[in-house]
This record gives sequence, structure tokens and C-alpha cells, in this order.
Amino acid sequence: MNNSIDRNNPFDEVAPTLNMDLLSQLIRQQAQKRSIFENIAILGCGYVGSALADYWQERGHFVTGTTTSRERVASLAKTVSKAVLMKGDDFTAVHSLLQGQDTLVVSVAPTGFRQADTATYETTYITTTKHLVKALSQTPSVTQVIYLSSCSVYGDRQGEWVDETAHIDPVDHRSQVLYEAEQTILQAANDRQRVCVLRLGGIYGPDRELVDMFGGLAGTTIPGKGDRFINWIHRDDIIGAIEFLRLNELEGVYNLVDDSQLTIKEQVKRVCFRYGLPPVHWDSSKLSFQRKSLRVSNQKLKAAGYDLIHPQFLV
Ligand SMILES: NC(=O)c1ccc[n+]([C@@H]2O[C@H](COP(=O)([O-])OP(=O)(O)OC[C@H]3O[C@@H](n4cnc5c(N)ncnc54)[C@H](OP(=O)(O)O)[C@@H]3O)[C@@H](O)[C@H]2O)c1
Repeated sequence: MNNSIDRNNPFDEVAPTLNMDLLSQLIRQQAQKRSIFENIAILGCGYVGSALADYWQERGHFVTGTTTSRERVASLAKTVSKAVLMKGDDFTAVHSLLQGQDTLVVSVAPTGFRQADTATYETTYITTTKHLVKALSQTPSVTQVIYLSSCSVYGDRQGEWVDETAHIDPVDHRSQVLYEAEQTILQAANDRQRVCVLRLGGIYGPDRELVDMFGGLAGTTIPGKGDRFINWIHRDDIIGAIEFLRLNELEGVYNLVDDSQLTIKEQVKRVCFRYGLPPVHWDSSKLSFQRKSLRVSNQKLKAAGYDLIHPQFLV
């Protein structure tokens, strides 16, 4: 009995049964023109990037992941095929990262306990994307780029719905930087290189639970009515959507938020109830510290065929 699998022949003549996983992979490959096993670079293996690296590594891809932290290289090297210590403001490192890659995912954000200063913020997003555009023009092997951005580019919409066609005129500097970085990376798109920008809601998931974000509010009184809409997305869906975009070779801008569309008052209430915490009181006689409120549409991604894994806010 021959136990080896001929990757080109799912109907192995020696073995009597079909390897259904391999067969479905091959069919998917033929339908979507992607190689089964790709070389994939993930620039920024933080919360999302590391989970994505695990997902692709387990499925046999050759994943190169990056970190800016010397201390993290050894632990990252345990989960990716190749770990690289680098920053996006180093053009030589960016150029070298792209060599021989088929797909690139950009998942960078300034890390650290303190909020990044303006210069760091600009370097992380704008310098990195400028370097990527130049390096991509010299690296035709990369046919798919997926860039993670944020729904915060839409700014405050006073609770109204927004989709990808909404006019964007960022009012604060950070949103302006994020938007400029999106516009920069989109310039890399051409007939051979597809660029997809995914605008994410607030990210939550394992080890980044909503109770950690909202639990501290339990039992307190907060100024305002609590009627702002905040959009969330579970990390599983970020991985699911990125894989969907890659396999279907999509390009352009897509929002990625869940379906829950709840006000902050309702979100906090659910978290407090679920964890048996004292409720939060809202003082509508006072003005809220935070004004930003918007409902982000996820219809474009759904219309392309993506089904959310966690359509409702998980507490
Ligand atoms: N957090 C949210 O709620 C949220 C919401 C919307 C969109 N996003 C976007 O979603 C993506 C993933 O977020 P996340 O929470 O997974 O981020 P994260 O955990 O903070 O990870 C960010 C990664 O970027 C790396 N990095 C930092 N500065 C860099 C630079 N100058 N050049 C190259 N790499 C750099 C970090 O390196 P180290 O490994 O050294 O830390 C880390 O690996 C980011 O693009 C973020 O902007 C986040």
C-alpha cells in the first residue's frame, strides 16, 4: 500500500479511497487560480498577524512574518517558516521581504503601552506604504496585497450608515494618516498586482476580550446617553475575510465589521450582564466625552460572497 500522496493526482490509483481534503483543495485552486502552497509575507505579526500566520502555516504555506522587537523574534520563529526583524521605514528590508513572495499582508500598527506620537504614527503607516509601493513595483512575483486599515477613516457620522463609497474628509490627524496610507498602497495596483484595503472595526477576540475593555466601567456613571454606535469585528472574521479576499483575488476597498450594530450602552449592558458585573448608569444631563458614532455597512464584502463567522457581538 502506498501511503504517500501525489499532490497532482487526488485519484491515487494505488489507494482505493479519495483524499477529499486534497481533492477539494485542488478544485478550489483550479477555480481560483491560486497555488495551493504560496509564499506569503505578513508585515506586522502582532495580534492579527500572528493568528493569520498560524492559520496559513498550518495549511502548508511558507509564511514569512515580521516583528520590530528583537525579543519577539525567537517566539515568532516557532510559528512561522521565517521570522524577520524589521521596520517598514527600512526600504532595503521591505524590498528583501517581498522577494519571491506571492501574497503580502500588511498588518502594522504602532505598538507599546503609550499612544504613539505623531512622527511614529506617520512613519509606521505612511513611510511603510510608500516603501511598499516602490518595492512592489520591482517585485512582480507578488500578485496580491491585502492591507489592513480602519473604519476610523470615516470619522464621526453622527450615527448614520457609511459604506465604501462615502466621501472621506478626515478631521483628525490620525485618521488623515490612515487614509493617506490607504491611498498610497492603492497606487501599487496594476494589471498584475491586486491591492485590497480592508477597513476594520474595533478588533476583539481571544486575549482581547470585550470584558477587558468595558469591565472597568461597571458600576460607574458615564456622561451622555450611551447612544453612540461602535463597530466591532472578531479576529476569526479578519482571518476568514483575508483568506476569502486572497482566494478570490479581490481588489479595492472593503469594510469588515459584524452585523450587531449596537449602541455602546447596549454593548456595555451585555458585557456587565454576562459577567455578573454591576450595571453602568448613563447621565444624559451631561455631554458625552466621546462623540464619534457611525454604522458601517458590510454589504459589499457579503455581496462578494463572504459569510461572517461571528455575525453578532460575542460576549
Ligand atoms: N486594534 C484595533 O482595534 C484596530 C482597529 C482597526 C484597524 N486596526 C488595524 O488592524 C491591523 C492589526 O492590528 P493589531 O491589533 O493586530 O496590531 P498589533 O497587535 O499592534 O500589531 C502590530 C504589528 O505591527 C508591527 N509594527 C509596529 N510598527 C511597525 C513598523 N514601523 N514597521 C513594521 N511593523 C511595525 C508590530 O511589531 P512588534 O511585533 O514589534 O510589536 C506588530 O507586529 C493594524 O494594521 C491596525 O492598524 C486595528
